[in-house]
Amino acid sequence: MQQDASKKLWDLLAIDKSESVLDLGCGPGHLTRKIRDWTSGTVFGVDPAEGMIAKARRNCQRLPVTFVVADAETMEITQQFDVIFCNSTFQWFVDPNRALTNCCRLLRPGGRMGIQAPARSDYCPNFIEASKALASDPRTAEIFSQFKLPWFFLDTAEDYGRLFESNGMVPRYCQIETISEPCSPEKVLSMFSSGAANGYLNPAYYSVDLPSDYEEVAREIVKASFQAQADVSGRVQLTFHRIYLVAEKKGEAPVPKSPSPAM
Ligand SMILES: C[S@@+](CC[C@H](N)C(=O)[O-])C[C@H]1O[C@@H](n2cnc3c(N)ncnc32)[C@H](O)[C@@H]1O
Repeated sequence: MQQDASKKLWDLLAIDKSESVLDLGCGPGHLTRKIRDWTSGTVFGVDPAEGMIAKARRNCQRLPVTFVVADAETMEITQQFDVIFCNSTFQWFVDPNRALTNCCRLLRPGGRMGIQAPARSDYCPNFIEASKALASDPRTAEIFSQFKLPWFFLDTAEDYGRLFESNGMVPRYCQIETISEPCSPEKVLSMFSSGAANGYLNPAYYSVDLPSDYEEVAREIVKASFQAQADVSGRVQLTFHRIYLVAEKKGEAPVPKSPSPAM
């Protein structure tokens, strides 16, 4: 599901073989590597997590990629890009307006930014159901009431479109899609562990210290919730809502100056 989602963003952006690309929130760099292998243009990877950038450097060893440890809101890059590729990262922006103003500054006129990210406040009903179990189970309820959701979601494609418009970019493609497939409860748990757990079980998003056994108990409760969500055939209908958006920076691409006629 995750790979299909990034592939769709890749197809929508249709990066030209010579375009310069910024991979924003590059994580461990698997997609940066794909971009590097594709285009002959400049490639940058940006991520605020030093550990992610270290992995991304290893993934792109000896290849010409510039990596920068920074977040979208404050990155200070002077280079301009044809494309900003932003897969599964937009939901983490703490200040989306500031991040988008910064992104717009880094695009050449006519350049484009594409995002693929979970969307809507019910972005994954299965994970929300599990979080309700954390909120009601007597073992976690008190601590979980001090959890603050770290992600940014908007509820409609129009809302996402307006956000980009107000930061100098014109949406060319903007849709929220719902993807749903039957999975085993174990598969759902592994999807949770590889992404959402970085939010729900992260001490940084609680306003109190976590007891030493909190994470273990919370994982048990989440696992039981996924098992309880299974139908008679033992499958859980795992559902995600995702925004796909490609927006273009306002303004024409500069027409290259023709050489001055010889005097
Ligand atoms: C789910 S990972 C996606 C990684 C990669 N784009 C991919 O699709 O494989 C999200 C990444 O966003 C990064 N991130 C979090 N907050 C960010 C911010 N404000 N600006 C840029 N990246 C951010 C995280 O460090 C993490 O590596």
